Amino acid sequence: MERIRHSDAWSKLEALAAKTKRQHMRDWFENDPSRADRYSADACGISLDYSKNLVTDDVLEQLKALAEQRKVNAKIEAMFRGDVINTTEKRAVLHTALRNFSGKPVMVDGEDVMPSVLATLDKVEAFTKSVLSGAHKGCTGKAIKKVVSIGIGGSFLGPKIVSEALKPYRNNIVDVRFVANVDACHIQDVLAECCFEETLFVMSSKSFGTQETLQNTLTAKAWFLQQKSEQHSTTIDDIAKHFVAVSSNVKAATDFGMAAENVFPMADWVGGRYSLWSAIGLPISLAIGFDNFKEILRGAFDMDEHVQTAPFEENLPLILAMLGIWYRNFMGAQSHVLLPYYHYLRGLPAYVQQLDMESNGKSTTLNGQAVDYGTGPVIWGSEGTNGQHSFHQLIHQSNLPIPADFMFPLRVPNQNDTHHAMLASNCFGQTQAMMQGKTFEECFKDLEGKGLSESERSELAAHKTMPGNKPSNTLIFEQLDPKTLGALIAMYEHKVLIQGAIWDLNSFDQWGVELGKVLGNDVLDVILDKNDNSKLDASTANLVAKFAKSRA
Ligand code: F6P
Repeated sequence: MERIRHSDAWSKLEALAAKTKRQHMRDWFENDPSRADRYSADACGISLDYSKNLVTDDVLEQLKALAEQRKVNAKIEAMFRGDVINTTEKRAVLHTALRNFSGKPVMVDGEDVMPSVLATLDKVEAFTKSVLSGAHKGCTGKAIKKVVSIGIGGSFLGPKIVSEALKPYRNNIVDVRFVANVDACHIQDVLAECCFEETLFVMSSKSFGTQETLQNTLTAKAWFLQQKSEQHSTTIDDIAKHFVAVSSNVKAATDFGMAAENVFPMADWVGGRYSLWSAIGLPISLAIGFDNFKEILRGAFDMDEHVQTAPFEENLPLILAMLGIWYRNFMGAQSHVLLPYYHYLRGLPAYVQQLDMESNGKSTTLNGQAVDYGTGPVIWGSEGTNGQHSFHQLIHQSNLPIPADFMFPLRVPNQNDTHHAMLASNCFGQTQAMMQGKTFEECFKDLEGKGLSESERSELAAHKTMPGNKPSNTLIFEQLDPKTLGALIAMYEHKVLIQGAIWDLNSFDQWGVELGKVLGNDVLDVILDKNDNSKLDASTANLVAKFAKSRA
């Protein structure tokens, strides 16, 4: 593909950026009463107000042209078609097949994968119903009351964040807990609240080779056997009643000791950070019931249809993606903040961090050339209103451009009108403050009659001045039900796909995480006295020595 900087739209956007930086959104709103309505779009239960962005019709026109010149639609079609777009791992990218309710086949290597997708979904459904009905019994004949999901990265974040976000839909049959970190504090805290007879462990690892997950599962297994042996003799099928696995590496799972019938398969064309729609979502299904889990898939399917068919001006993922390109490549932004004004959605920033940063945190193009432009931004954020009392100061008054996505549910469970009105007012007020700011003159006027000298008043006014012109999107939805959440997550998946297409990246491998794992294992060998420290640099050797001393 042509170098992005050589595209016609790129140079026009550079010119527009210089012009836009000399303008202020306040003036645009004052001069165009229709701006808010024109720059809004609705799809799949999500209403996007993108009018508080540093964009004009000219900018949007060139962003649309850039998407066309970068052949974004062709990339979207290639993904859904099952083309090998994960070129370095020679795989298709088909998390969309997992929620394909179209009835149409999805071909991989000449074979329709839908029968196996649906068979696995049936297996998830059957197992969920067996556990929740009490039919699935533990080794002493008791029903399951606790599910411990062991996994990390995409084998943890999706199930955890979704189960948290859909807390109002949780059943009162099983309590689902999550363990990810190899820090033993994590699993010990969870095991302390478990009774071995009533606990089911779901070990999720696409590769079945992730150190943290394997170690945590070994610890859980040892705990289970120790607990059981204190009261009963142990047989191998005891493990089978309390341990299931989700993996694309079925052989490794059975070699590990998982009963073959307890291994839920996943295909290698499902990326870890795109896998909650697969059997990796089993803990979600156990937490909220299979029917609700299926609704999540349906919401994502609706967004899949939307991204493939909606015109630019109405296409939520495309609009969000191209606004991100505008800020990252033309307006100097290096990060993007997610601000869900909904306590149950507080985990979304962490989820989108992996989705976005592990996909586009790269600097090599598909054909192996170094990029000469910005790529994936730092994704961060936390629930509103908490952020207002921690990092919003920087958002409002630093010279760092940080575009924001605000999210707000119009209705919440256990609705308290006073609280919800306050939550809404904070959310919307923040978007207004970011956009309009407060001028020096306004601050100076406010300080009249405060007993300040002219110079004191002027100095304080300078400190109180808010430049404004800080861009934000506001995403509003009726309520965060399973379907809306599925659509919201799929929307961010497609935003990442589109931005990766613009930047000419492979958004679906993650070679950058390999070196740390290898070197970590080398350090572990030194710590465990399996190797000397000759391969370590002086700093790392010192660190290891300090650790070894503490263990002595
Ligand atoms: O961080 C690297 C990574 O491979 C992620 O992409 C993945 O979600 C996570 O580790 C866990 O991998 P697995 O599911 O294979 O244990």
